[in-house]
Amino acid sequence: MKSLENGLFISFEGIDGAGKSTHIDALVAAFKAEFGADKVIQTREPGGTPLAEKLRQMILNDAMDALTESFLVFAARRDHLNKVIEPTLARGDVVLCDRFTDATFAYQGGGRGFDLKTLSYLEQITQQIRWLESDLEVKSSVSEPSIQIRQPDLTIWFDLPPEIAAERLAGARVPDKFEAQPVEFFRQVAAGYQKRMDENPARFAKINANQSRETVWADVLQAVESKGFLKKGRSA
Ligand code: TYD
Repeated sequence: MKSLENGLFISFEGIDGAGKSTHIDALVAAFKAEFGADKVIQTREPGGTPLAEKLRQMILNDAMDALTESFLVFAARRDHLNKVIEPTLARGDVVLCDRFTDATFAYQGGGRGFDLKTLSYLEQITQQIRWLESDLEVKSSVSEPSIQIRQPDLTIWFDLPPEIAAERLAGARVPDKFEAQPVEFFRQVAAGYQKRMDENPARFAKINANQSRETVWADVLQAVESKGFLKKGRSA
Protein backbone atom coordinates (compact mmCIF):
# COMPACT_ATOMS: atom_id res chain seq x y z
CA MET A 1 0.00 0.00 0.00
CA LYS A 2 1.07 3.55 -0.76
CA SER A 3 1.99 5.71 2.21
CA LEU A 4 2.59 9.40 2.69
CA GLU A 5 5.25 11.01 4.83
CA ASN A 6 3.18 13.99 5.95
CA GLY A 7 -0.27 12.51 5.53
CA LEU A 8 -2.86 14.02 3.23
CA PHE A 9 -5.62 16.43 4.20
CA ILE A 10 -8.49 17.16 1.83
CA SER A 11 -11.49 19.31 2.72
CA PHE A 12 -14.85 19.73 0.98
CA GLU A 13 -16.75 22.97 0.92
CA GLY A 14 -19.81 24.61 -0.59
CA ILE A 15 -23.13 26.17 0.35
CA ASP A 16 -25.84 23.99 1.88
CA GLY A 17 -27.51 21.94 -0.87
CA ALA A 18 -24.45 21.91 -3.15
CA GLY A 19 -24.46 18.10 -3.07
CA LYS A 20 -21.03 17.27 -1.65
CA SER A 21 -22.03 14.26 0.51
CA THR A 22 -22.29 11.53 -2.12
CA HIS A 23 -19.01 12.61 -3.70
CA ILE A 24 -17.22 12.63 -0.36
CA ASP A 25 -18.42 9.06 0.26
CA ALA A 26 -17.25 7.98 -3.20
CA LEU A 27 -13.86 9.62 -2.76
CA VAL A 28 -13.42 7.97 0.64
CA ALA A 29 -14.04 4.61 -1.07
CA ALA A 30 -11.49 5.44 -3.78
CA PHE A 31 -8.83 6.42 -1.22
CA LYS A 32 -9.50 3.31 0.87
CA ALA A 33 -9.08 1.16 -2.25
CA GLU A 34 -5.71 2.75 -2.94
CA PHE A 35 -4.26 3.28 0.55
CA GLY A 36 -6.08 0.64 2.64
CA ALA A 37 -9.21 1.13 4.75
CA ASP A 38 -7.29 1.71 7.98
CA LYS A 39 -5.28 4.56 6.42
CA VAL A 40 -8.22 6.81 5.58
CA ILE A 41 -10.39 8.81 7.95
CA GLN A 42 -13.68 10.41 6.96
CA THR A 43 -14.71 13.21 9.26
CA ARG A 44 -16.59 16.50 9.38
CA GLU A 45 -16.80 19.96 10.91
CA PRO A 46 -18.24 21.12 13.09
CA GLY A 47 -17.80 17.68 14.62
CA GLY A 48 -15.49 14.70 14.36
CA THR A 49 -15.05 14.14 18.11
CA PRO A 50 -17.67 13.54 20.83
CA LEU A 51 -17.18 17.05 22.23
CA ALA A 52 -17.19 18.72 18.80
CA GLU A 53 -20.37 16.82 17.84
CA LYS A 54 -22.06 18.24 20.96
CA LEU A 55 -20.92 21.73 19.96
CA ARG A 56 -22.26 21.06 16.45
CA GLN A 57 -25.77 20.62 17.83
CA MET A 58 -25.59 24.06 19.45
CA ILE A 59 -23.97 25.74 16.44
CA LEU A 60 -26.58 24.37 14.03
CA ASN A 61 -29.66 24.87 16.19
CA ASP A 62 -29.26 27.60 18.81
CA ALA A 63 -29.53 31.33 18.09
CA MET A 64 -26.39 33.22 19.13
CA ASP A 65 -24.35 36.19 18.03
CA ALA A 66 -21.65 35.77 15.42
CA LEU A 67 -18.70 35.96 17.84
CA THR A 68 -20.21 33.32 20.12
CA GLU A 69 -20.82 31.14 17.06
CA SER A 70 -17.23 31.66 15.95
CA PHE A 71 -15.89 30.72 19.38
CA LEU A 72 -17.89 27.48 19.31
CA VAL A 73 -16.82 26.64 15.76
CA PHE A 74 -13.16 27.18 16.62
CA ALA A 75 -13.49 25.30 19.93
CA ALA A 76 -14.90 22.34 18.02
CA ARG A 77 -12.08 22.67 15.47
CA ARG A 78 -9.39 22.73 18.15
CA ASP A 79 -10.68 19.53 19.72
CA HIS A 80 -10.93 17.93 16.27
CA LEU A 81 -7.39 18.99 15.31
CA ASN A 82 -5.91 17.78 18.58
CA LYS A 83 -7.68 14.45 18.76
CA VAL A 84 -8.23 13.41 15.14
CA ILE A 85 -6.70 15.49 12.36
CA GLU A 86 -3.15 16.04 13.65
CA PRO A 87 -2.62 12.51 15.01
CA THR A 88 -3.92 11.03 11.72
CA LEU A 89 -1.65 13.20 9.58
CA ALA A 90 1.28 12.48 11.92
CA ARG A 91 0.81 8.77 11.17
CA GLY A 92 1.03 9.58 7.45
CA ASP A 93 -2.64 8.75 6.88
CA VAL A 94 -5.38 10.46 4.88
CA VAL A 95 -8.01 12.82 6.34
CA LEU A 96 -11.07 13.58 4.21
CA CYS A 97 -13.00 16.28 6.03
CA ASP A 98 -16.44 17.67 5.20
CA ARG A 99 -15.73 21.40 5.81
CA PHE A 100 -12.85 23.09 7.63
CA THR A 101 -11.70 26.67 8.35
CA ASP A 102 -12.79 28.00 4.94
CA ALA A 103 -16.39 27.36 6.08
CA THR A 104 -15.89 29.71 9.03
CA PHE A 105 -14.63 32.49 6.77
CA ALA A 106 -17.48 31.81 4.31
CA TYR A 107 -20.38 31.36 6.79
CA GLN A 108 -19.46 33.48 9.81
CA GLY A 109 -17.37 35.93 7.75
CA GLY A 110 -19.30 36.05 4.45
CA GLY A 111 -22.82 34.95 5.39
CA ARG A 112 -23.04 36.61 8.78
CA GLY A 113 -20.73 39.47 7.87
CA PHE A 114 -18.50 38.97 10.89
CA ASP A 115 -15.07 40.64 11.04
CA LEU A 116 -12.51 38.62 9.07
CA LYS A 117 -9.55 39.91 11.08
CA THR A 118 -11.14 38.62 14.26
CA LEU A 119 -11.68 35.23 12.59
CA SER A 120 -8.00 35.15 11.56
CA TYR A 121 -7.01 35.97 15.14
CA LEU A 122 -9.24 33.19 16.49
CA GLU A 123 -7.73 30.84 13.93
CA GLN A 124 -4.24 31.69 15.16
CA ILE A 125 -5.15 31.19 18.80
CA THR A 126 -6.89 27.92 17.96
CA GLN A 127 -3.94 26.51 16.09
CA GLN A 128 -0.76 28.08 17.40
CA ILE A 129 -1.10 26.60 20.85
CA ARG A 130 -2.20 23.31 19.39
CA TRP A 131 0.38 21.09 20.97
CA LEU A 132 0.71 22.64 24.38
CA GLU A 133 -1.21 21.42 27.37
CA SER A 134 0.11 23.39 30.35
CA ASP A 135 -0.50 27.10 30.98
CA LEU A 136 3.22 27.77 31.24
CA GLU A 137 3.92 26.34 27.82
CA VAL A 138 1.01 28.26 26.33
CA LYS A 139 2.35 31.59 27.62
CA SER A 140 5.75 31.05 26.08
CA SER A 141 4.43 29.93 22.72
CA VAL A 142 1.61 32.27 21.76
CA SER A 143 3.86 34.51 19.67
CA GLU A 144 5.92 31.62 18.30
CA PRO A 145 5.95 32.38 14.57
CA SER A 146 7.33 29.03 13.48
CA ILE A 147 4.16 27.08 14.23
CA GLN A 148 2.27 26.77 10.98
CA ILE A 149 -1.48 27.12 10.66
CA ARG A 150 -2.86 23.82 9.39
CA GLN A 151 -4.64 24.10 6.07
CA PRO A 152 -5.83 21.31 3.77
CA ASP A 153 -3.52 20.14 0.99
CA LEU A 154 -6.52 20.42 -1.30
CA THR A 155 -9.95 21.99 -0.86
CA ILE A 156 -12.68 20.85 -3.22
CA TRP A 157 -15.32 23.57 -3.51
CA PHE A 158 -18.69 22.45 -4.86
CA ASP A 159 -19.98 25.62 -6.45
CA LEU A 160 -23.70 25.87 -7.12
CA PRO A 161 -25.91 28.96 -7.68
CA PRO A 162 -27.75 29.65 -4.39
CA GLU A 163 -31.16 29.58 -6.12
CA ILE A 164 -30.57 26.02 -7.33
CA ALA A 165 -29.22 24.92 -3.95
CA ALA A 166 -32.38 26.32 -2.33
CA GLU A 167 -34.56 24.31 -4.74
CA ARG A 168 -32.59 21.15 -3.94
CA LEU A 169 -32.91 21.76 -0.18
CA ALA A 170 -36.62 22.62 -0.26
CA GLY A 171 -38.64 19.89 1.37
CA ALA A 172 -35.64 17.60 1.74
CA ARG A 173 -35.74 17.71 5.55
CA VAL A 174 -36.39 20.05 8.46
CA PRO A 175 -33.87 22.84 7.86
CA ASP A 176 -31.28 23.72 10.51
CA LYS A 177 -30.37 27.33 11.38
CA PHE A 178 -28.14 27.78 8.34
CA GLU A 179 -30.28 25.87 5.84
CA ALA A 180 -33.21 28.13 6.77
CA GLN A 181 -31.33 31.26 5.67
CA PRO A 182 -32.48 33.23 2.60
CA VAL A 183 -30.76 32.99 -0.78
CA GLU A 184 -28.93 36.28 -0.15
CA PHE A 185 -27.13 34.73 2.84
CA PHE A 186 -25.78 31.96 0.60
CA ARG A 187 -24.74 34.49 -2.03
CA GLN A 188 -22.54 36.02 0.65
CA VAL A 189 -21.27 32.60 1.73
CA ALA A 190 -20.30 31.85 -1.88
CA ALA A 191 -18.56 35.23 -2.11
CA GLY A 192 -16.69 34.28 1.07
CA TYR A 193 -15.48 31.05 -0.53
CA GLN A 194 -14.44 32.93 -3.67
CA LYS A 195 -12.37 35.32 -1.55
CA ARG A 196 -10.66 32.39 0.17
CA MET A 197 -9.89 30.84 -3.19
CA ASP A 198 -8.56 34.12 -4.61
CA GLU A 199 -6.20 34.36 -1.63
CA ASN A 200 -4.93 30.82 -2.16
CA PRO A 201 -5.80 29.58 -5.66
CA ALA A 202 -3.35 26.67 -5.65
CA ARG A 203 -5.11 24.99 -2.72
CA PHE A 204 -8.59 25.09 -4.26
CA ALA A 205 -10.36 23.06 -6.92
CA LYS A 206 -13.60 24.83 -7.78
CA ILE A 207 -16.06 22.31 -9.19
CA ASN A 208 -19.18 23.32 -11.09
CA ALA A 209 -21.82 21.42 -9.10
CA ASN A 210 -24.56 22.46 -11.53
CA GLN A 211 -23.95 19.43 -13.76
CA SER A 212 -25.01 15.79 -13.76
CA ARG A 213 -23.79 13.75 -10.81
CA GLU A 214 -21.51 11.74 -13.14
CA THR A 215 -19.87 14.87 -14.53
CA VAL A 216 -19.36 16.37 -11.08
CA TRP A 217 -17.76 13.09 -9.94
CA ALA A 218 -15.47 13.07 -12.98
CA ASP A 219 -14.38 16.60 -12.10
CA VAL A 220 -13.77 15.63 -8.46
CA LEU A 221 -11.59 12.69 -9.51
CA GLN A 222 -9.73 14.84 -12.00
CA ALA A 223 -8.99 17.41 -9.27
CA VAL A 224 -7.55 14.75 -6.98
CA GLU A 225 -5.65 12.85 -9.67
CA SER A 226 -4.11 15.96 -11.19
CA LYS A 227 -2.51 16.66 -7.80
CA GLY A 228 -1.11 13.12 -7.82
CA PHE A 229 -3.13 12.14 -4.72
CA LEU A 230 -4.81 9.20 -6.48
CA LYS A 231 -3.57 7.11 -9.40
CA LYS A 232 -5.08 8.09 -12.74
CA GLY A 233 -7.24 5.73 -14.74
CA ARG A 234 -9.68 4.35 -12.18
CA SER A 235 -13.22 3.94 -13.48
CA ALA A 236 -15.71 6.71 -12.70
P1 TYD B 1 -23.23 20.51 6.56
O1 TYD B 1 -21.76 20.38 6.43
O2 TYD B 1 -23.95 21.07 5.39
O3 TYD B 1 -23.76 19.12 7.03
P2 TYD B 1 -25.13 18.45 6.63
O4 TYD B 1 -24.95 18.05 5.22
O5 TYD B 1 -25.22 17.34 7.61
O6 TYD B 1 -26.18 19.52 6.82
O7 TYD B 1 -23.66 21.40 7.82
C1 TYD B 1 -22.81 22.11 8.57
C2 TYD B 1 -23.33 23.52 8.71
O8 TYD B 1 -22.47 24.25 9.57
C3 TYD B 1 -23.38 24.28 7.39
O9 TYD B 1 -24.60 24.98 7.30
C4 TYD B 1 -22.26 25.26 7.50
C5 TYD B 1 -22.10 25.47 8.98
N1 TYD B 1 -20.71 25.81 9.36
C6 TYD B 1 -20.42 27.10 9.77
O10 TYD B 1 -21.29 27.97 9.78
N2 TYD B 1 -19.13 27.40 10.13
C7 TYD B 1 -18.14 26.48 10.13
O11 TYD B 1 -16.96 26.80 10.46
C8 TYD B 1 -18.46 25.14 9.71
C9 TYD B 1 -17.39 24.09 9.71
C10 TYD B 1 -19.76 24.85 9.35
